[in-house]
Amino acid sequence: MADRPRVFVARLIPDEGLDLVRAATDADIWPDELPPPRDELLQRIKGVDGVLALLTDRVDDAFLDAAGPGLKVVSNYAVGFDNVDVAACTRRGVAVGNTPGVLTDTTADLAWTLLMAAARRIVEGADYVRADRWKTWGPLLLLGPDVHGATIGIVGFGRIGQAVARRAMGFGMRIVYHDLQRAEAAVEAAYGATFLPLEELLPQSDFVSLHVNLTDVTRHLINADTLRQMKPTAILVNTSRGPVVDSMALVDALRDGVIAAAALDVTDPEPMSASHPLVSLPNCLIVPHIASASRATRGKMAAMAAANLLAGVRGERLPTPVNPEVYEAR
Ligand code: DGY
Repeated sequence: MADRPRVFVARLIPDEGLDLVRAATDADIWPDELPPPRDELLQRIKGVDGVLALLTDRVDDAFLDAAGPGLKVVSNYAVGFDNVDVAACTRRGVAVGNTPGVLTDTTADLAWTLLMAAARRIVEGADYVRADRWKTWGPLLLLGPDVHGATIGIVGFGRIGQAVARRAMGFGMRIVYHDLQRAEAAVEAAYGATFLPLEELLPQSDFVSLHVNLTDVTRHLINADTLRQMKPTAILVNTSRGPVVDSMALVDALRDGVIAAAALDVTDPEPMSASHPLVSLPNCLIVPHIASASRATRGKMAAMAAANLLAGVRGERLPTPVNPEVYEAR
């Protein structure tokens, strides 16, 4: 039908979203498991009204040029949007949407899983059994730190950071946090959380969990210097974005015992090949960016991304815009 909006969907997403998009648009849906190669992406988006993009698709001036002046919306299937040059979109009147809220608890669950798994050396334990090395009960076998009663330093105290704090409360932990802005007193009181400058949080924390957006300020926030400020027994958990941590500095820190262990859902580079030195370190646990990967949450993200896409192509305000300022310019 000629009057249906044309959209490009950059990957198969759950039916909760795809069905809505198919029903209301003339949709070109990229069918592969891997993202469209850049050239192919730029080709496929020519003249579309909207794009449902993933965090693996770079949305920049070249992308916007390729799409052309008819592009009304980029709906990102993620809460993070560091893959999108939001200012460039705003300049061209293109609304950008994301999927906040629905993945908060699922992501916090995974951060907690990583924290527990690294502390209690779960993967090493499973490998030990699989390798048939389990010959007796060992008083010194696979010892790790206690999680309960320990101090957790939460860096980035937004929705997900606070959801991690809720879990930490259940383990009787001392909660300290750092963010660009101090949280309201009521929020601090709700979690019994204490604000600290980063240079005080790091030496006090048994676990450091990262929940910041990736920006120029947070890129390599965890580097050789900040790693050295952490306890030699500390465990670093990253479910935010890979480049928040300087990977090569982390390799050195884990090898040299500057910190005890790391557990990462996100890496730099991403994906990380098995030949990267971080992957073979026994005290580094890496999973492939799966923090939001519960069936229910991915379905909700899909519905939300579809709602943003459809609102955008109809010229309506997105339910969850990243750049609401785009409407002021109209
Ligand atoms: C996000 O939404 O930003 C996550 O990294 C993927 O769900």
